[in-house]
Amino acid sequence: MYHDGGADRPVLLNPGPAGTSERVQNALLRGDLCHREPEFDELLQRLRAALPRALEFPETYESILVTGSGTAAMEMAVTGSVRSGREIVVLSNGVYGERLLAIARAHGITAHEVAPEGDQLERWTTPIDPARVDRALAAHPQADAVVCVHHETTTGLINPVREIGEVVAQHGALFVVDAISSTGNEELNLADAGIDILCGTANKGLHGLPGISFLLCGPAGLDRIAEVPARGFYNHAATHLAGQRRGEVPFTPAVQVCYALGEALAEYTERGGRRTRVALYRDRAALVRAGFARLDLKILVDPPHRANSVSTLRLPERVTYPRLHDELAKRGYIIYAGQGGLAAGHFRICTFGEIPWHRLEALESALGDALHAARD
Ligand SMILES: Cc1ncc(COP(=O)(O)O)c(C=O)c1O
Repeated sequence: MYHDGGADRPVLLNPGPAGTSERVQNALLRGDLCHREPEFDELLQRLRAALPRALEFPETYESILVTGSGTAAMEMAVTGSVRSGREIVVLSNGVYGERLLAIARAHGITAHEVAPEGDQLERWTTPIDPARVDRALAAHPQADAVVCVHHETTTGLINPVREIGEVVAQHGALFVVDAISSTGNEELNLADAGIDILCGTANKGLHGLPGISFLLCGPAGLDRIAEVPARGFYNHAATHLAGQRRGEVPFTPAVQVCYALGEALAEYTERGGRRTRVALYRDRAALVRAGFARLDLKILVDPPHRANSVSTLRLPERVTYPRLHDELAKRGYIIYAGQGGLAAGHFRICTFGEIPWHRLEALESALGDALHAARD
C-alpha cells in the first residue's frame, strides 16, 4: 500500500535526517548548475510556489528558501519578526522552545518566556496554555511577536497552535511558528492556525534532503520582515526575500538539495498531498504504538497531545540506551536518545521519511529481541 524505500538499508527511526526515496536521492546526480543562470531561477520560483501550494496555504503566502538546517530558518524568523526596541514572547516546553529563546537573547532581543509550571519533566510534557499567552501579552504590550513550536520533537508533544494563534491575533502581535517537525505531516492544517511566519524544513515530513529549510510568510509576516532592521548579515530575512523575488539569491545556495526538494514535493503531491501524508503518519503511529503496548513500553506524552511521528518511550529496567541502540542497529533500525533530563530513562522512536511498510511491521519483533538482548 505504501511506498517501499527498497533495499535493505537501515531504517532511520531518528527525528531527522529522515529516509528519502531513490527519486529524491537521484536528484543529487542531475549535475552542476550555476545559481546565476536562468535555470536556477526557474527552479527557485517553482519551489517557492510549490511549498505553500503543497501545504494548502493561500496564495497570499510567500516562501523564503534558506540554505541551512532548520535552526537557520528559526533564527531568520525570530530576528525578522521583532522591530527595533520591541520584544518577543517565547513559548517554551522543550529543547526547541528553549532554542528559540536562546536565539532571541543571542541577538539582544528582550524575550519573555512562557513555560508550563513544574520540573523539567512536567514542563516538557504539558502543552502551552493559551490563557498564559494571553496574560503574557497583556503584561508585555511591547511584544511584537509570539513564537511557538508546534510539534516539540523533544518529546513528541503537539502544542495547541490554533488556539494560541487566536489569542495572539486578539493582541495584534505577529504569530511565528516552528513547524519543522510537523509541516505537512501532522493532523492540524497549519493554514488554519493564523500563522504569520512558519518555519519548515525540506527534510522530516516532506521527505527531502537536509540542508534546505524555509519560511512561509503571510501578508503581515511579509510587512514585518520589510520593517525589521538587519540583526546579522547572512541570515537577514528581508535581504533573502528581496533577492529571491528578483530571482537573485544573495549567497551560494545548496543547488542540488533544491533539486531534491523539487522531487520530494512532486512525490508529496502525486501521492495525494497533505491528507495522504497525514494519513500515512497516522497509520504508522497506530502500527508501531500497538507493538509498543504489547511490549509493555510506556509512551511519555498523553494521547490527546501526541504527535504521530515521535514516540518518547520509557526504558525498561536494566536496559540502557546505548545497549538498546546497538542491539537495534544490528537488526537494521536506528533509534534516538532522549534529550536533556530524559536522556537517562527514555529513548525515541520516530517515523519520519521513507520507511518501507514491511520494515515497520517487523519492528515489534526486532524491538522485542533487542530489549531482551540489551537487558543486563
Ligand atoms: C521542532 C524543531 N525545531 C527545529 C529543529 C531544527 O534543528 P536542525 O537545525 O538540527 O535542523 C528541529 C530538528 O530536529 C526540530 O525538531
